[in-house]
Amino acid sequence: MNKELTHLRVNGEEREIAITPNRLLLDALREDLGLTGSKRGCDDSSCGCCAVLIDGTPMLSCVALAASYEGREITTVEGLGGPGELDPVQEGYAEMGGAQCGYCTPGFMIATKALLDRNPDPTMDEIREALSGNLCRCTGYMQIYESVKYAIEKLRAKSATQAPATR
Ligand code: FES
Ligand code: FES
Repeated sequence: MNKELTHLRVNGEEREIAITPNRLLLDALREDLGLTGSKRGCDDSSCGCCAVLIDGTPMLSCVALAASYEGREITTVEGLGGPGELDPVQEGYAEMGGAQCGYCTPGFMIATKALLDRNPDPTMDEIREALSGNLCRCTGYMQIYESVKYAIEKLRAKSATQAPATR
């Protein structure tokens, strides 16, 4: 199969890569663009390790064709934040032990980010539901839920400091 020039917008940057039409988005991200945060766990849409955001919605990149996402906003875990400017979601997982071996963590952080962007004050049931497509073999999940709660508190504190003063 011939390679074709494909333009992907990833973490706010336009990237051009030469790929075959059947190139999986996970492989394009990891091997063509060097963004190795997204992980290959099961390769059959069961574990959530490979999740990325497409226009803000979580998507499993192990079952997505890269060429289908030209013109869409793709966000990987690297795009959430970095050293010195961590997203509250990343801070939560770091502070509350939500990452142990860390293999599942990028997928959990992507699912958490999507949840809190659309619902900054979720119930416990909503948190469990939003993370139900992600599997973790290390933590027993409680630390992950605590990580999400930490992120919620950080976001709440941040929006309180940004709220305009009222008389
Ligand atoms: S690697 Fe994609 S869901 Fe497991
Ligand atoms: S931290 Fe190891 S699989 Fe989740």
